[in-house]
Amino acid sequence: MAQIQKANGVIDWLDQRIAIRTLTKVLMTEYWIPKNINFLWAMGIVLVVLFTILVVSGLFLLMYYKPDTKLAFDSVNYTIMQEVKYGWLWRHLHAVSASVCFLIIYIHMFVGIYYGSYKRGREMIWITGMLLFILFSSEAFSGYMLPWGQMSYWAAAVITNLFGAIPVIGPDLVIWIRGNFIVSDATLTRFFMLHVVLLPVAIMAVIVIHFYTLRIPHVNNMYGEEIDFEKEAEKFKAGNKKESKVIPFWPMFLSKDFFVASFFLAFLFYLTCYHYSFALDPINFDPADHLKTPPHIYPEWYFLWSYEVLRGFFFSADLGLIAFGIANVIFLFLPWLDRSNVVAPAHKRPAFMVWFWLLVADMIILTIWGKLPPTGANAYIGFVASISFLALLLIVLPIITKIEDKIAKE
Ligand code: HEM
Repeated sequence: MAQIQKANGVIDWLDQRIAIRTLTKVLMTEYWIPKNINFLWAMGIVLVVLFTILVVSGLFLLMYYKPDTKLAFDSVNYTIMQEVKYGWLWRHLHAVSASVCFLIIYIHMFVGIYYGSYKRGREMIWITGMLLFILFSSEAFSGYMLPWGQMSYWAAAVITNLFGAIPVIGPDLVIWIRGNFIVSDATLTRFFMLHVVLLPVAIMAVIVIHFYTLRIPHVNNMYGEEIDFEKEAEKFKAGNKKESKVIPFWPMFLSKDFFVASFFLAFLFYLTCYHYSFALDPINFDPADHLKTPPHIYPEWYFLWSYEVLRGFFFSADLGLIAFGIANVIFLFLPWLDRSNVVAPAHKRPAFMVWFWLLVADMIILTIWGKLPPTGANAYIGFVASISFLALLLIVLPIITKIEDKIAKE
């Protein structure tokens, strides 16, 4: 055991026992971040801030929420919204933060795609990021069920029903997930458990792993430049801060991030106080009724693009389901679908740049059409957009990046 001496302060006392100075160096003051990155690289920390707000506001809501099909709707719409002081504020903050969280996740993901931050050693960052996306999606879906309104009920019925299409085990799996033959009290209580315990704990664990995966390959930069981090760190430590291409995570990088996060928070509270209704579906203010199907069932805006891929194959439910399955996991394989070794921003990769904006445009079209009734011309537009989405990722990307790689090697 190490020699323990009389400590000259709390930090020294802790350092002798848990090496707090070494830990701070490794994680903060000597964890080097490139200088040439812009505000878009602050989205990761904005997501941490948002997740914290979701946990805190969720804890306050939990004090009055009742996970029982007979009580849930009233506990949210009367007790929290009308009887508890500032209950409405916590609910609006929670709903708006959940919605905005997906906007920031999509920006964070597409910044990664634009700058090629998912390849050449950064594959694990991307994979853990996609795991976070799947976990956040499950968290949002399970949370949407809790107010036990019409959309809560019917979204749960539609999505759990999809598992029935899995060969052999499908029908039994649906009953197992629901805990009953139909969406019922048992379904509500298990989704409640997932939403308040299992998924948040899993998200926290994966955020830690996501950070850890960043530590060795380091954060990418605006030019895709390969930086010799050790050499640049030496320059910084020797006092040549201007010449060095890196800055420490703490205090420099994080203080810039907090600067961006403070603007973001002003925007978030503005939305929460004045424009919260975009995050709450009007149909969900009607209590769940298993005998009355709403005329048009659709998910929250952030799931519309994949929902449209499901509906796009309107002539075959099986094809739609396969396409939906692929759409949900396809981004996980991006580091291997992109066959080029070039790490550079999209505007330095002409074919990739066109591909990138086509993908963004296509996903916006899918999102818009995902909310429209799938009839007449809408059905065909949805079909073309769905096919284009799959083709862009599965066929076009490997081809153009293979050609790009060949040209780069010549
Ligand atoms: C939802 C919770 C998430 C949190 C809290 C989070 C947090 C972070 C943080 C703090 C960084 C470092 C700074 C930055 O680039 O912003 C980062 C980087 C990164 N994240 Fe995430 N992230 C999340 C989700 C995702 C998702 C869904 C993806 C996409 C699959 C992703 C992919 C990446 C990539 C590729 C980087 C490296 C960026 C670079 O090297 O330039 N993350 N993340």
